[in-house]
Amino acid sequence: MSSQREQWGSKLGFILAASGSAVGIGNIWKYPSMAGQNGGGAFTIVYLACILIVGLSIVVAEFVIGRKTQLSPVGAFEKLAPGSNWKWVGFLGVASAFVILSFYGVVGGWILKYIIDSILGGFNNLSGNPEAAGAVFNGFITSTYSPVLYQVLFMGLCIFVIVQGVKGGIEKWSKILMPIIIVLLAVLAIRGMTLEGGMEGLSFLFNPRFEDLTASAIVLALGHSFFTVSLGMGTMITYGSYLNREQNLMTSALWVILLDTAIAMLAGVAIFTTVFALGANPAEGPGLIFVILPSIFPQLAGGTIWATLFFILLFMAALTSAISILEVVTAYFIDQKGWSRKKATIQFGSIITIVGVFCSFSLGGGVNLTGFLGMSFFDVMDYLSSKYMLPIGGMLTAIFILHKWGLKEYMNELREGMNNMSVPDKLVKTFLIIAATIVGFIIFNEIYFTIAGKALIG
Ligand code: PFF
Repeated sequence: MSSQREQWGSKLGFILAASGSAVGIGNIWKYPSMAGQNGGGAFTIVYLACILIVGLSIVVAEFVIGRKTQLSPVGAFEKLAPGSNWKWVGFLGVASAFVILSFYGVVGGWILKYIIDSILGGFNNLSGNPEAAGAVFNGFITSTYSPVLYQVLFMGLCIFVIVQGVKGGIEKWSKILMPIIIVLLAVLAIRGMTLEGGMEGLSFLFNPRFEDLTASAIVLALGHSFFTVSLGMGTMITYGSYLNREQNLMTSALWVILLDTAIAMLAGVAIFTTVFALGANPAEGPGLIFVILPSIFPQLAGGTIWATLFFILLFMAALTSAISILEVVTAYFIDQKGWSRKKATIQFGSIITIVGVFCSFSLGGGVNLTGFLGMSFFDVMDYLSSKYMLPIGGMLTAIFILHKWGLKEYMNELREGMNNMSVPDKLVKTFLIIAATIVGFIIFNEIYFTIAGKALIG
């Protein structure tokens, strides 16, 4: 089957698709709100260190495994370690894709609703009134039908893109959407910086306030570095599997990380300059996007346009990430079960949408799913994936290379396409060991916290 395997059309297309997966709600919503609450620049320093030390090693590892095997995660681990239990790391990835996309699709739906609201001038009567904006947001997400309707629409768009395949769907749309995301964000950041008082937002975001950086914020930064670069569930294995051997995997990984980080910073700049210029609360946390921004955009000249552009940008970023999650599931059924792309995408896209409907309902829309771990089903899915499933997947990938596949074979594959760029084996090995150790400790810490009620750190 591998002879007819789909391939990326160009190097640039691959880099834009992989960075499209990385750049998502995590960059534009999660990072700014986390940094705002956890020490600004101090959080950013830790986040950057995690991405450089842990993130980079695992992105490269996933690309290498994917390109070597030309298979999605389950098949890839099975091919490199036949008959062993390592294929379960691949299954964990497919399961993580299910879990993440179910709640990610719900948030994608909220974004669509906010695009429509902003176009229709729906934020105008929320001007300067975050309480009213909060009530509107809560009213919406806890209602039964409306969020589900938008979620189904969002998931329908993901299915539409994935059915068109690797080159005709993922690559084509990433090439269109990624440049627009970058331009829109740059425009919004410049707008924010030129507002009176906007520059104070920059010092809030970048000046390190170490007194606000708790140990649990460090743990948060590490978990987020997996989520933001789409690591630990085989997305990058799957994307790497559509590559030929000419691509330099090290520079590709550096590009993905650079774009992901730059876009998160730019989003932070766009948001905090505006928040400061208009005197809103910068440490609002998750409410920053759906509550604070709708209450401050109407105060800007041309506010409707700025608000609409912002939510369109967020939607594009969410879509290029969501399709990569669906592709992991689709590729599994194509590679391992021989299904057609259309059948796999439509069937499993629909099943994930149905699970997502329950995530949405769990926020108040009728079905009481609260109780497990004392959180809503929506929060459980978020918690399980970012605190356990992705870090465990990432750690096992590093251990797999060190203990099962072997560094020598790994380096042979990595060196293909690297021309004369030299990367010492020892350095790669050290990074993988550090990554696995740090992540292992963080997972242990989290489990200890759940059992003992207090963390070793944090
Ligand atoms: N990286 C995406 C974001 O920052 O929003 C989320 C994500 C996509 C996580 C794909 C995991 C994944 F496999």
